Amino acid sequence: MANSTRSRTTFRCQSCGEVAPKWAGQCTSCGEWNSIVEEVDLLDERSTPPARPSVAAVPIAEVATESAAVLPTGVGEVDRVLGGGVVPGSVTLLGGEPGIGKSTLLLQVLAGLAADRPVLYVTAEESAQQVKLRAERLGALRKRLFLASETSLSHVFGHIDAVHPEVVVVDSIQSMADAQLTSSPGSVAQVRHCAHQLVTMAKAQNLAVILVGHVTKDGSLAGPRVLEHIVDTVVSFEGERDHALRVLRVVKHRFGSTQELGLLAMGEGGLLTVDDPSEMFLADRRAGTPGSVVVPTVEGRRPLLVEVQALVANSTLAQPRRQTHGVDHGRVAMMMAVLERRVGLAVGGLDTYVMAVGGARVSEPAADLGLALAIASSLSGSSVGDDVVVVGEVGLGGELRSVNSIERRVAEAERLGFRRAVVPRSVGDLDVGIELIRVPTLAAAIHTLGLAGG
Ligand code: TYD
Ligand code: MG
Repeated sequence: MANSTRSRTTFRCQSCGEVAPKWAGQCTSCGEWNSIVEEVDLLDERSTPPARPSVAAVPIAEVATESAAVLPTGVGEVDRVLGGGVVPGSVTLLGGEPGIGKSTLLLQVLAGLAADRPVLYVTAEESAQQVKLRAERLGALRKRLFLASETSLSHVFGHIDAVHPEVVVVDSIQSMADAQLTSSPGSVAQVRHCAHQLVTMAKAQNLAVILVGHVTKDGSLAGPRVLEHIVDTVVSFEGERDHALRVLRVVKHRFGSTQELGLLAMGEGGLLTVDDPSEMFLADRRAGTPGSVVVPTVEGRRPLLVEVQALVANSTLAQPRRQTHGVDHGRVAMMMAVLERRVGLAVGGLDTYVMAVGGARVSEPAADLGLALAIASSLSGSSVGDDVVVVGEVGLGGELRSVNSIERRVAEAERLGFRRAVVPRSVGDLDVGIELIRVPTLAAAIHTLGLAGG
């Protein structure tokens, strides 16, 4: 092509930094795939001259620390996770799979915020009518909640100038585009460029901006993973579409703790706070069922009782089936190997199904003992007992290892009426009323609970 117009963009490999003449699927320099991204050239490669800073550097002890005034959203679980509410001048990325409820949640959040200030919802995916209908269902029609159906970044800035909102939601960042870039909306170049512009604007105008980012099934933020380091806060919204439960988790937070967890349930009227999640998880539990074990897990700082179920059956297949849902597949495989080799239970040739009930997800090692005992219980046909919870990490030698937050876990079990907790031998004295059954090994736990026959 002739150099008639001066190109404003460069194609650069994000892996090795090589500049390519045009977009290509593979970098010719380092061989990486899908790493070439369009970038806007801001300046020629000249050395940056020093300029007079707007604020001089000060000794660290003299930095003013007026705490950022947070704006409470009125959605209790969101405020809990964010440490009180959204921070003016900050950018938050809300990631989650399509259909999980991001738009619903943010509409509720904006409706809460709009009580005291103008706010702007930019819908780049749904029409204004669709959003209005949903807001009606959610009871979110507010005078100061402004709605713009827009995919062009410069128009979004125009709306911000016109509305003067204090909080802006962009739903979603993948659908935004700046006409200055030739790449299509959703491309890494556009996503990153638009986010960068919005971050700059948020800081300059002291606005709180919330960006929606879609995440694919395997958990990668399609595109927005590259955003994680330019935004202040990253929140992921998780759950199973077939279940009501939704979990709000802070992955990164410049203004506070990442230990908090929000629990919400999707219903007819939108997302509601779950007051007693443990009770919700255990509501449908059938007493005395072999293969069912209750595990006190900890998510962030929150204790949660989750029912783990296992079912083993004779296999007709050369390669027995192993299916898991909501639990870590690898840890189930490990527990089966430990049961086989350290306890002497012949589980290797059986079809095995293990799941966490109610859309819960259990991945911490502290649930090892629960997984192993659920399998052993199913195999023996005996139940572990309705008043028992079990917790402990299982080593490859079959030994039980202690886990964090043990007191919080068993206290939650006690609160829900459990009377006994099987725990690793090393657990010390705890200030709880529940009976602690300390055992050294998985084999001892199986023996103690009477699951040895089978
Ligand atoms: P949505 O917020 O559109 O998800 P996302 O923005 O993450 O893609 O929510 C999608 C689902 O939520 C949709 O399948 C319908 C369901 N839903 C309810 O169950 N109750 C409600 O009150 C609303 C508004 C949605
Ligand atoms: Mg949406």
